[in-house]
Amino acid sequence: MTRCFIIGHPVAHSRSPMIHGHWLAEHGLNGSYERVDVPPGEVAAFVARIRTGEFAGGNVTVPNKEAVLPLLDHVSDTARRMGAVNTIWRDGGKLHGDNTDAFGFLAHLDDRVAGWDRYVATALILGAGGAARAVVHGLAERGVGRIILVNRSSARAEELAADFGTGVEARRWEEAAALVAASDLIVNTTSLGMQGQPPLDLDLAGLRPGTIVDDIVYVPLETTLLAQARARGGVPVDGLGMLLHQAIPGFERWFGVRPQVTPALRALLEADIPRA
Ligand code: ATR
Repeated sequence: MTRCFIIGHPVAHSRSPMIHGHWLAEHGLNGSYERVDVPPGEVAAFVARIRTGEFAGGNVTVPNKEAVLPLLDHVSDTARRMGAVNTIWRDGGKLHGDNTDAFGFLAHLDDRVAGWDRYVATALILGAGGAARAVVHGLAERGVGRIILVNRSSARAEELAADFGTGVEARRWEEAAALVAASDLIVNTTSLGMQGQPPLDLDLAGLRPGTIVDDIVYVPLETTLLAQARARGGVPVDGLGMLLHQAIPGFERWFGVRPQVTPALRALLEADIPRA
């Protein structure tokens, strides 16, 4: 049996086992995908277990994504750029690491708004954490010419912008509402608007109809930001698809089958997400 894992701390809340469990059953594979609670101090010991052959690979979530990177043999350029690994696999006795968040973000956006990259010239990103880094990486890769970052702690936005250089700029958090009208795509990468977190108060009065508004928060599935965007003629893109699509490359590495994000899989996850 091919065993895979998700390590995090805590890890009980992760919905990844639901995704991979669905694909394992769908493809009739003899495999498992197990939650393993790994506190920060135990990451190296866990990586040693992977090396013994106990697991074919797995996913890494908070707070271990950064700590695991220097413990692997080959890390993709994307993961290096992120400074974080979310997917590990064993190949020829070596451990490989990648970060599939940017892939997941782009794949879902492609799925929802085909051809978006032909007209999105300016993107406004709320937040400057790990998720923002993945989104900026993805958008820059797809040729978005102007990416504007706003973050509560402006120093963090400035650092991220400096890291990417030309085409990525930092502005003040207070400027967000004024930047809405100039944006073809708006992405919330903060935790604001998530169940149990403070609301995201972004004034969308300036939103142009047709502007894509993407919220990576998926609990609730339709956040207040997305509902307001919809009401103003914007094109809402929810965060669940990014979670589903980022899982594809890992499953393919471990089990040798490229899985699909189907309506049945989405429905399974949706049923597990509390309504607003
Ligand atoms: P992730 O890896 O999911 O991006 P993170 O690195 O902790 O997580 O980043 C969380 C993001 O949400 C940050 O941009 C954070 O802003 P700060 O850098 O100023 O902390 C943002 N965020 C979280 N709580 C917030 C709040 N109450 N108001 C504004 N921004 C908030």
